[in-house]
Parts: sequence; structure tokens; C-alpha cells
Amino acid sequence: MEIKRVMVIGAGQMGGGIAQVCAQAGFDVLLNDMNQDALDKGMKRIEKLLTRAVDKERINESDKTDTLNRLSKSSQLQDAHNCDLVIEAVVENMDVKEKVFGELDNIVPKHAILASNTSSLPITEIAAATKRPDQVIGMHFMNPVPVMKLVEIIRGLQTSDETYNVIKEMTDKLSKVPVEVEDFPGFVANRILMPMINEAIYTVYEGVSSVEDVDTVMKLGMNHPMGPLTLADFIGLDTCLYIMEVLYEGFGDSKYRPCPLLRKYVKAGWLGKKSGRGFYQY
Ligand code: NAI
Repeated sequence: MEIKRVMVIGAGQMGGGIAQVCAQAGFDVLLNDMNQDALDKGMKRIEKLLTRAVDKERINESDKTDTLNRLSKSSQLQDAHNCDLVIEAVVENMDVKEKVFGELDNIVPKHAILASNTSSLPITEIAAATKRPDQVIGMHFMNPVPVMKLVEIIRGLQTSDETYNVIKEMTDKLSKVPVEVEDFPGFVANRILMPMINEAIYTVYEGVSSVEDVDTVMKLGMNHPMGPLTLADFIGLDTCLYIMEVLYEGFGDSKYRPCPLLRKYVKAGWLGKKSGRGFYQY
């Protein structure tokens, strides 16, 4: 099976980036959002990023025009009726995702593959909302999508080898590096990253070191490009807490217990960069 036409659902931070890299790789892309304002903003953001890429001589003017010509806006799921692949990047909420997948299942052609960019929800459960669980898979892109090379490809319990191979090939065409991952809480990226961030928060909570010093240790001692507490502020402390809860509940192991200080900050509305205050002030 060859993928030609792709719909990306959700024109937010992730969906916009996914639509951009798909269009740059030569696929025809429909960017869908139920919110017209989000759709317009998403498209404008893509145009701006492409203009910046031209300015930095990473692409030329005709690459930009060709990419934009391959992109169109969509405000109805029905537009997916002739798509070979749909990549869903709507809010991280199981009810919303199940509804979207259930509806898509009745719209897309028989051969079409349905992928989710979820960072923490089980692909197996999303797949169960359709009558084609063998053609449902996780494509977990990293933020910012045009920059980050990795895509975790998550196999749900019933994902077929054929579906996996088509998506792996597609990921190669996007000039990204696919990594095969089984469907368990946190997949690989967040299962390793989030406990590290949580542990960094524990060291501050227990008074072992200061926020700045914990970040300095990881930057200068481990060559991490940014400290774990800065990174937590960028990701959003609510998102960090949510993923720790997914790990804690999913494995039932106390090693994933979210740090009480993380809970306290989230309760206070200190969510990191987006709210102006987290471990640092912005
Ligand atoms: P966002 O909030 O920036 O964008 C979500 C978009 O989906 C919004 O524009 C909203 O209007 C739209 N939407 C919501 N329900 C919809 C529906 N039923 N139909 C069509 N559009 C709908 O969210 P973001 O950050 O882009 O995240 C999207 C997904 O990507 C989530 O599942 C998240 O867990 C995952 N993810 C996020 C990462 C991040 O760093 N933000 C990293 C990797 C994955």
C-alpha cells in the first residue's frame, strides 16, 4: 500500500508541525481542526516557519511554494473520505480520541491507516473504538516536530505487521528516525524522561540541592542541553504530573509516585513557562 493523501487532525502545536513535515516530504495534506481560528493560526504558523527556513537557506522559495500548494485546510472529518492515512493530534483525552477514531472508521477507505500522536494514552484502547484495530498505530512525534528527528512507532496489541511496515516506511520518507515500541505506559521516551524529571523535583523537595544547581549538575555533568527542571517548565508541569500518574497507575509501582512538590505547584497554578511561573519565573 502506498500513502499519498494524509489528513492531520488537530492544528495545534503538534498537528501543525506534523502537517508541515508531511507536506515538505511530498504528501498531499489536509490539516483539520474543528476550531476555525486554530486552523487559521496553524496554517499561518506553518507559513511563517517555512519563510524562516527560506531565510536561513535551508529550503528555497520554490520548496516553500510547493509545500504550501500541497497543504489544504479542512473543518470536517468527512474530508478524510479519500485519505490513505489519518494522523490524529487532538487534545490528550481518551473520550475525545475514541470519538474521533470511531467516526473516522466510518469515513476513511477500507485500506486506510489511522494513527495517533498521543504521548501517553494506550493505542490498544484507541484501536478498540474502531472495527480495524489491525490498522491503528501510534506515531509519537517529538516537539518541535520540524526539528526533532525521532518518531516512536507504537504497536497496539492488534496492530498488523503490514500496518507497522507502511508507517515505518512513511516515517523514513519524512526524514525522521522510527523506533519500534510496544504499547505500555509512557512508551519509551516518557517512561525514561518523566521519572528523571520527577527525581529532579524530589531532590529539590528533600532539600538536597537548589533548582538552579540540579539543572547545572545535569547540564555540565551529563551534557544535557537543558536541565530537567527547565525542561519540566517547558513541557508544562500539569503535563508532567499527568504522565507520572499514567505511569504510577499503569504499573502500580511506587517508583513512579509523583513528587508531592510537583502536585503542589500544579494545584497552585504554577504550570511552568506557559503560566509565567514553574520552577523558574518567566
Ligand atoms: P494543542 O492543544 O496545541 O492542539 C490540539 C488541537 O486539536 C486544537 O487546535 C483543538 O482545536 C483541536 N481539536 C480538539 N478536538 C478536536 C476534534 N475533535 N476534531 C478536530 N480538532 C480537534 O495540543 P498539542 O500540544 O498539539 O497536542 C496534541 C496531541 O499531541 C496530544 O495527544 C498530545 O499528548 C500529543 N503530544 C504533544 C506533545 C507536546 O509537546 N505538546 C509532544 C508529543 C505528543
